[in-house]
Amino acid sequence: MAATKQTLLFPGGVSKPVNVASVPQRSPFRYPGGKTWFVPSFRRWIKYKIVKPNILIEPFAGGGIISLTALFERLVPKAVMAELDEDIAAVWQCIIDGDAGWLADQILNFDLTRESVIEEVSKPATNTKERAFQTILKNRTSHGGILAKGSGFLKLGENGKGIKSRWYPATLAKRITNLQHVAERIDFRCEDGLKVMKEFSDLEYAVFFIDPPYTAGGKKAGKRLYKYCDINHEELFTICDSIKGDFLITYDNADEVKALAEIHGFQYRLIPMTNTHNATMQELVIGKDMSWMDTPKCPALRAIEPQ
Ligand SMILES: C[S@@+](CC[C@H](N)C(=O)[O-])C[C@H]1O[C@@H](n2cnc3c(N)ncnc32)[C@H](O)[C@@H]1O
Repeated sequence: MAATKQTLLFPGGVSKPVNVASVPQRSPFRYPGGKTWFVPSFRRWIKYKIVKPNILIEPFAGGGIISLTALFERLVPKAVMAELDEDIAAVWQCIIDGDAGWLADQILNFDLTRESVIEEVSKPATNTKERAFQTILKNRTSHGGILAKGSGFLKLGENGKGIKSRWYPATLAKRITNLQHVAERIDFRCEDGLKVMKEFSDLEYAVFFIDPPYTAGGKKAGKRLYKYCDINHEELFTICDSIKGDFLITYDNADEVKALAEIHGFQYRLIPMTNTHNATMQELVIGKDMSWMDTPKCPALRAIEPQ
């Protein structure tokens, strides 16, 4: 198909947003722009492959749901996760350093009130694990899970429970301790995702799940959600040109992104999702060959180990 004549609707593909409750929630974060809703499509993409990937690269990891799912479901043997935000990075690093049990205990033993959160997050963190705990507290008590400067506490929250409405200590502690099962298979970097993409671009059987900060609403909108959001999108596409393995990029449905995809000869499809305000929206999924999204079912698993 010519790049300029993209099929935007896919009769055999996904037509309704995914019910995220059907996807095992493995991330300790509530993440703005999180991709839980993309999990069924990601599984399908991997299962469609004739040669099984030997590594997943997630250069903009955030809450990391795609890497975690891929590792738990053995879709890939290992994953490289990169995230530039030092607070988020502290959580991943803490888990990988073997401190998941410590973090889970902190969560279980914390008596959460507005005052106790303010006191805890105002302390200077003296090490990675303390910073990780502060990050989880902020993430769970801030409006929309947003950690960027200027985000306030949850006010009414769920069922009028205010600041406590997203604080499920037992569930969170379990999620975090469960991560010990996959921690050894994660190579985490607090680095620029573009640099990490370049580092692995030569690997033939690598797959990349690329979910950069969005462009919708310009930089201002991005700044509200993330501390780091200034990505050179043209450079990102240029790096994708050099990827010998395979990749998927998810983006907001913006004309300038579609134009970039076309310039680089990539294909794209639209996929429905439900946003935090329960509105159904369309997002873009970009890749080298998107035909796997057009068929009603993926073929029987016929994965071959890479040589
Ligand atoms: C759309 S979010 C990723 C969400 C993630 N896929 C999930 O499911 O939770 C984009 C992430 O990229 C991070 N980020 C921004 N610039 C970055 C960079 N240059 N390198 C690595 N991460 C970056 C942001 O902090 C944010 O966490």
